[in-house]
Amino acid sequence: MQWLADADGARRFVGAARADRQTVGLVPTMGALHAGHAALLHALRPQVDRLVLSIFVNPTQFGPHEDFARYPRDLAGDQAWAEAAHVDAVFHPATSVMYPVSPSTFVQVEGIDRVLEGAVRPTHFRGVATVVAKLLNIWTPDIIALGQKDAQQVVVVRRMMQELLWPTRLVVVPTVRERDGLAMSSRNVYLSPAEREAAVVLHRSLDAAERAVRGGVRDAVRLGAELAAAIQSEPLAQLDYAVVVDAATLAPVAQVAGRVLVAVAARFGATRLLDNCCLEVEGEAVRTVLP
Ligand code: PAF
Repeated sequence: MQWLADADGARRFVGAARADRQTVGLVPTMGALHAGHAALLHALRPQVDRLVLSIFVNPTQFGPHEDFARYPRDLAGDQAWAEAAHVDAVFHPATSVMYPVSPSTFVQVEGIDRVLEGAVRPTHFRGVATVVAKLLNIWTPDIIALGQKDAQQVVVVRRMMQELLWPTRLVVVPTVRERDGLAMSSRNVYLSPAEREAAVVLHRSLDAAERAVRGGVRDAVRLGAELAAAIQSEPLAQLDYAVVVDAATLAPVAQVAGRVLVAVAARFGATRLLDNCCLEVEGEAVRTVLP
């Protein structure tokens, strides 16, 4: 497994792969890997000849009062996950590689970057879209993989790739959960034991919402209100949103029909957690799908 730290090394790696007619897959991460990231690596491994993991805690996707400085970093642990997943190259650039000068060029996916997460983190998706565009420029991968847990990120990146004419295929990998259902996240390490226990309310409430849809509920506003009430019944949860939106546009819907994203965000102490489920509803038929 090679460790690469700059764009030239990455381009040489890709050049050699292309010369051998090999395909390249990229899993972009911010490190502090867990089983959720491993699922992304395992999903791409059989689909490509050369598998690349990028680890870069991207400063532009953090707001001024967010956790950039204390975001978990664990390169030794990341290396172990990468080896176990048979990664061919790890890309771990310094900030000066990804942002060689103070940035004035950004990629912004207007509209869908300002709702849900974007309503509370107004520059977050601009940072995500910009860094993913840079990684695509450097690696020109055939496939990249993102996790379902950050469903809005999937929608934003997909739209960015479509509009900027990237031929890269985006693979979305289902959320990996702890035994009690909590979605895996690098930020789960911030939770106190009591918050950790309380946080399972997100998954339980989403499960209840999905059962309600399967039971025939089609009023999206009522579903969202019941979801919000279920999360608020947990004293340690401070709800940010519990909504039912169109899975492609992220616009609120009145009826649960077609492809909808049921998305929640709540704070447990200082830690903000997200979860979602994505459903395709046609008449009585309800299917669980990926965003
Ligand atoms: O999901 C993440 O870890 C990050 O947002 C990403 C896609 C690696 C961009 O920094």
